[in-house]
Amino acid sequence: MQGLTPPFRDLTADILSGIVDGVMVADEAGNVLIWNRAIEEMTGIAAADALGKQARAVLGENPAVVSQIEKTLATGRSYSDYEAELAARHREPLPVGLVSSILADEKGRPQGVILSVRDQRGVRDLKDRMRRADRLAAIGQIAAGIAHEIKNPLVGIRGAAQLLKSELRDAAGGSLIEYLDVILKEADRLNSVLEGILDFTRVSPRERGGFNVHSILDRALLLNEETARQNNVVLTREYDPSLPDVIGNQDQLMQVFLNIIKNAVEVMPSGGRLTVVTRMSDLFTSVQADGRKHRLMVVKVSDTGPGIRQEHLQDIFAPFFTTKDKGVGLGLALSYQIVQEHLGTIRVESREGEGTTFSVYLPLAA
Ligand SMILES: Nc1ncnc2c1ncn2[C@@H]1O[C@H](COP(=O)(O)OP(=O)(O)O)[C@@H](O)[C@H]1O
Ligand SMILES: [Mg+2]
Repeated sequence: MQGLTPPFRDLTADILSGIVDGVMVADEAGNVLIWNRAIEEMTGIAAADALGKQARAVLGENPAVVSQIEKTLATGRSYSDYEAELAARHREPLPVGLVSSILADEKGRPQGVILSVRDQRGVRDLKDRMRRADRLAAIGQIAAGIAHEIKNPLVGIRGAAQLLKSELRDAAGGSLIEYLDVILKEADRLNSVLEGILDFTRVSPRERGGFNVHSILDRALLLNEETARQNNVVLTREYDPSLPDVIGNQDQLMQVFLNIIKNAVEVMPSGGRLTVVTRMSDLFTSVQADGRKHRLMVVKVSDTGPGIRQEHLQDIFAPFFTTKDKGVGLGLALSYQIVQEHLGTIRVESREGEGTTFSVYLPLAA
């Protein structure tokens, strides 16, 4: 630190207000000496309301933080807690990492305590996503194994039923043929479930390129048009024509929009409005293979259906979660996996009785 000359104090203030971590310093008696800008934002408490007051009182809404500070003051040791939550007025608790350490003078005598608070939102998101991806991969492998095992005997059952049916028709089997039709129909249904599972597990990075997202949205809408008309669903498109190309695999992303649009149409059997909006987003991807961060665009698919129950919001992306009689529960699980492989994300907002919006964020080529 030899190069530092006065005005050293001013520099300290600039550093403290510039860093992203929240910093609080209190003296040995627990009076707050420093309360930087980041901690103001995290707690919603202004420096003017904190400086000179007792840390215990200022951080009253956060007893765990107070006790960590007091522990440091009492023992002279550092403590860290990387899974803490910071309560703040008018906001949801913030996931944070906390480190408290002793502030010592040049002779090593304790002068007070330093608390640093790191915003862990990004890290938590990432951990959640990794956990979900792991679970999907494991479930996928098991499901693929089971699907293969079931598929082979099913082919045999279906073939035998088909043969029996033609023999009986020749021998005028009458009502027995109806039973066989049931067997055939159910075998076909089972087969389509298995196909769905195998599709799900076949997801792997395929050919990628740049393409216009509106062309695949139009195709996905077209394929749902018939059902939409039967359900009296009115369709609105609000495309931003100036959007650059998206990068990814067209077939896979087509699958994503088909699933989401199909779900939206299905939850409005007696009419409603389906709105598809595209626009630029403020978000970026993490660094991609080309060493750059890519800007994301967003496709929002909104319906005026019944919405998703609060307690189901956690589960809708899990494989096999369905609330439909004939549902398989793989559409959203598959879509989630595809979008994640594209380094995008899917977000859902839903209000019971009002409707649901799925937002799919995808990286732009430019
Ligand atoms: N637009 C929507 N509105 C209400 N609920 C929805 C919507 N989209 C999906 N869901 C819920 O998520 C579940 C899972 O969807 P999905 O994975 O496509 O499987 P499936 O359509 O076979 O049920 C659905 O059963 C439904 O409960
Ligand atoms: Mg579905």
